Amino acid sequence: MERIITNEELSEDETNLNIRPQTLSEYVGQSENKENLETFIKAALIREESLDHVLLYGPPGLGKTTLAHIIANEMHANIKTASGPAIEKAGDLAAILSTLEPNDVLFIDEIHRMPRFIEEMLYPAMEDFTIDLVVGGDGNTRSVSINLPKFTLVGATTKAGDISSPLRDRFGIVLKLNYYTDEELTDIIKRTSLVYDMPIKNDAALELARRSRKTPRIANRLFKRVRDFALVNGDSCINLETTKNALNKLNVDEYGLDPIDLEYLNALINKYNGGPVGANTIATSIGEELGTIEDIVEPFLLQTGFIKRTPRGRVATKLAYDHLHIPYIEK
Ligand SMILES: Nc1ncnc2c1ncn2[C@@H]1O[C@H](COP(=O)(O)OP(=O)(O)OP(=O)(O)O)[C@@H](O)[C@H]1O
Ligand SMILES: [Mg+2]
Repeated sequence: MERIITNEELSEDETNLNIRPQTLSEYVGQSENKENLETFIKAALIREESLDHVLLYGPPGLGKTTLAHIIANEMHANIKTASGPAIEKAGDLAAILSTLEPNDVLFIDEIHRMPRFIEEMLYPAMEDFTIDLVVGGDGNTRSVSINLPKFTLVGATTKAGDISSPLRDRFGIVLKLNYYTDEELTDIIKRTSLVYDMPIKNDAALELARRSRKTPRIANRLFKRVRDFALVNGDSCINLETTKNALNKLNVDEYGLDPIDLEYLNALINKYNGGPVGANTIATSIGEELGTIEDIVEPFLLQTGFIKRTPRGRVATKLAYDHLHIPYIEK
């Protein structure tokens, strides 16, 4: 079964680049994070220094990559990007670090998936802007310390808990991205509709927002699909009826739950009597990877109040029973 959201990056075609906001003021929502970042960036610019290292964490599709690019842009700096699991050897990290120029932003996505020894190599790079390398061979090895320009490391992860505390402690700025409100998503959808040159009625944008799992990436993806339905219908503007029809055809229900969310709730209620049950057990019983359940399904179901976390496992709430039309009996 295909999910609407994955951990993969979108292919960066031109439109995708345009739907990505380029500046903090274009970046919708996350107001507290935005205000703080604005201050830190201004201060760094006044001091003519690089910005302190930034750790961004939160569920997929909430705008971490977008924010990393915005940080570089607002700092008038270049951005170099790397992905945690792709940095396998000491030489890989050294190669990346050696391309950095003063005040550059180095964005490492999925930073929790770097090998441990690479992470340890990164500590002196973050703290003292040096890197220790072992050179030579044939019994004639020695360690050399290389100075790096001052740079800003921006790390992104979906789970802050997976980052070791020594690494986390080396980030001066730690920002947790939150799920978006319906109003914020409506703004994002309106902006996307301008980029795609396909108008959308206010009530249709709000409906789309409500059904987008509080996540901009999903809002943008669903917008594109709804736009297809509107185009084939011959509508010059996306209206509420087309939006509802399209979303129903895409199996996105009125809360934005997709088939996997519904399977999860069904299993929790019908197989495990509403819980408490461990995430692992549910994942196995519906044939999904634990990572998908923990990173994507559960954070959303918790946030929307369909499940609760207890010390003994997940529990379905009355809202979940009502949504599945199953009588709820207080335990
Ligand atoms: N605050 C925002 N305002 C407007 N658009 C946004 C915002 N945040 C995200 N988007 C849009 O949502 C899409 C997904 O964002 P992004 O790729 O930055 O998410 P991510 O957090 O890096 O996800 P992942 O964890 O999967 O890498 C982007 O194409 C961007 O256009
Ligand atoms: Mg990303």
